[in-house]
Amino acid sequence: MIVNNAWYVAAWADEVTAKPLARRICNLPVVLYRTLDGEANALLDSCCHRGAPLSLGTVVEKGIRCNYHGLVFGSDGVCVEIPNQDNIPRKARVQHFPLIEQDQMLWIWHGDADKADASLIPAYPFHNDVRNWPHKHDMMPVQCHYLMLVDNLLDATHLAYVHPASVGGSVANVHMVAKNQLDATDNGITLSRQMSNAPAPPVYHNCVPFPGLIDRWQEFEFIAPASVIQYSGGVPAGADRATAGAPRFDMRIFHALTPETDTSCFYFWSTANGHDTGNPAATAKIDTEIRKALAEDKLMVEAQQARINELGEDRLVDNRADAPRVMARRAVAKLMQRQNPAA
Ligand code: FES
Ligand SMILES: [Fe+2]
Repeated sequence: MIVNNAWYVAAWADEVTAKPLARRICNLPVVLYRTLDGEANALLDSCCHRGAPLSLGTVVEKGIRCNYHGLVFGSDGVCVEIPNQDNIPRKARVQHFPLIEQDQMLWIWHGDADKADASLIPAYPFHNDVRNWPHKHDMMPVQCHYLMLVDNLLDATHLAYVHPASVGGSVANVHMVAKNQLDATDNGITLSRQMSNAPAPPVYHNCVPFPGLIDRWQEFEFIAPASVIQYSGGVPAGADRATAGAPRFDMRIFHALTPETDTSCFYFWSTANGHDTGNPAATAKIDTEIRKALAEDKLMVEAQQARINELGEDRLVDNRADAPRVMARRAVAKLMQRQNPAA
């Protein structure tokens, strides 16, 4: 279920330079690069002459040069130069993808270019608020369908089993009895989870030592088809979350899942520090700790995908805890239906 008419994160803005970068997105090979003016651009990674990858090419003044026989393509994908030939065939062009740089990410539109509406890109201004939310970011390839990671992020009951040593903690019941609020939005869902009198899980405790039990929150917004915005934290049990000072754990995570193929994706994420903002070591510590949790998820979802590849999904049975992910999948289905009513 890949929605083509949608924005996906193609890369972090700082990943893309004048040295072309090859990345398969929604089953198509794409080349990402910056022109000599610094503008990020995305083209199909296949020259229209003999099909060589443009990612093996070189950025030159007029665009990107294929390094097989030297054809040059402008930012719109139109061939602007053929060595030793004045006449450029009208069909000499490669597909261009709309690409927008926003909030330190490069968002690509894979579907009909005339439907690419920049206002649909999920806004994440925290990436630019380095004073209040200093952050780290990275990308991890994962061998699973991108929606399996959306499922994973919206399913909190796995925390105690997959993440006892990181974000979960060892007391499974904390997650089972959390106060949940699940709501549909125009383009996805919101899920809020409040856990009172809970032990601080290792990630929280390793970042901010808490003397006793805490009140935890995990708040998610899923924006179909592939973005999850998370705000999580904890304060000493009984403290007022709005006004509590230290000790306090305050973290934002932006998750963007970009389909690579039908069974693999790119997991872009950032972790932002809201409790010790002037301390780069605290920002780095959150990143180090959250990486452990992401590695734990990767292990599980890749193993899950391998089983699904082999056995299919027909025999799978939902339970009550699946409500958020089922609702999220519905939002994706709705988006697909809206964009392709004939489907
Ligand atoms: S294949 Fe690109 S110039 Fe020939
Ligand atoms: Fe997880």
